[in-house]
Amino acid sequence: MADTISIVDNRTGKKYELPIQDGTIRAMDLRQIKEKPDDFGLMTYDPAFMNTANCRSAITYIDGDKGILLYRGYPIEQLAEDSNFLETAYLILFGELPTAAQQQNWNREITLHTMLHENIKKLMEGFQYDAHPMAIFLSIVGAMSGFYPDAKDIFNKESRLKQTHRAIAKVPSIAAWAFRHSIGRPYVYPDNDLSFTGNFLNMLFKMTELKYQPNAVLERALDVLFILHADHEQNCSTTTMRTIGSAHADPYSSIAGAAGALYGPLHGGANEAVLRMLHEIGSVSKVPEFIKKVKSGEAGNRLMGFGHRVYKSYDPRAKVIKRIADIVFTVTGKNPLLEIALELERIALQDDYFVSRKLYPNVDFYSGLIYQAMGFPVEMFPVLFAIPRTAGWIAQWEEMLLDPEQKIARPRQIYTGPVQRDYVPREKRA
Ligand code: ACO
Repeated sequence: MADTISIVDNRTGKKYELPIQDGTIRAMDLRQIKEKPDDFGLMTYDPAFMNTANCRSAITYIDGDKGILLYRGYPIEQLAEDSNFLETAYLILFGELPTAAQQQNWNREITLHTMLHENIKKLMEGFQYDAHPMAIFLSIVGAMSGFYPDAKDIFNKESRLKQTHRAIAKVPSIAAWAFRHSIGRPYVYPDNDLSFTGNFLNMLFKMTELKYQPNAVLERALDVLFILHADHEQNCSTTTMRTIGSAHADPYSSIAGAAGALYGPLHGGANEAVLRMLHEIGSVSKVPEFIKKVKSGEAGNRLMGFGHRVYKSYDPRAKVIKRIADIVFTVTGKNPLLEIALELERIALQDDYFVSRKLYPNVDFYSGLIYQAMGFPVEMFPVLFAIPRTAGWIAQWEEMLLDPEQKIARPRQIYTGPVQRDYVPREKRA
């Protein structure tokens, strides 16, 4: 049997045979289907890309029904157990796990690029003390376009690699300084003797001690959280990254845009929203009442941290995170909001409203509780997400740039406005 589909246009009686490849038909193949020869041709209408593949990608695989997530073929559970963030970032970017020599070189390159230009300090200082750190983060990342004009050389492999080192190395520094700015503490310079996450904790929390010693449990927990957040195929921010990149903008401009998408409460802002929701609920006894409100759709209430466009079962990242939470709480003490979260999950997983809609906890349901226990204010949560996701964004951006089938992203529309009409002089308007 040929892998084709036959379509009969009942307007004309004409029959078309379209190829099927990878379970997909090409939307452009529909264009030949016309009622009259000068018609534009048939289009597909797919708001929010619910059923449209925007690219071919070899980076991340998700099976939303089975709850499977693979980076370059490796299961997320194995990477969370055995890998570290920098190794996983290398895997995502270059397609294979690094050899010992490649890993050493990669770690060295990242470590060498952790410093920020001194003028970035002045930019940071321009923000009010209460500016959201994600607003600072995405502004500074965008500003890097001005600091590194060589980043515009996007078809030069060496230049792309340099920007990759810079971006991955500098995002923790930007994030930490945004945090220090918001609490009025002096910025801390990177300590290159420490690991990627150890140094990040240093830049966040160092006080007057000469040498900051990160807590090994928290350092590893944060590293695992970074592994879990490093990529997630064609999500909202990654699609933004690819879209901006498709106009051949430099990577910093694209990352700034992607970070803007991640800032939204339906995406990376969700764990911040989860914490606010748990605070609002206040106690375990109020959980049933809150669930009732969510189900009635009252005031647009949603159970934040539940549901996912792709996962229609338990998000595999949420399973790992639940385990990390227990480990982190042995160091930090239990987050008092945990009981409310557990009760919400327990009730929701038995309730027909959530079960029938296949709404399960996603990555954000428990991550906020861990971040809060580690001493991060909720405003830092999307920033903590953006740090590892920078690796995924860059990998997806580069894949898009090198894909000969890609062009500037430019969807079509179905026009619903008035037909052409003549300008009405002001005195004649009703
Ligand atoms: N609480 C209550 N009801 C929900 C929820 C929720 N969290 N999520 C979806 N629903 C309901 C919808 O009301 C809808 O019900 P209906 O069919 O009766 O109208 C149905 O489930 C389908 O929902 P959609 O909005 O169509 O699903 P979509 O795929 O567009 O949304 C999303 C996915 C945005 C993640 C959604 O589930 C949501 O808003 N969740 C809360 C926010 C959140 O946790 N976001 C983090 C996502 S993970 C990430 O970005 C890292």
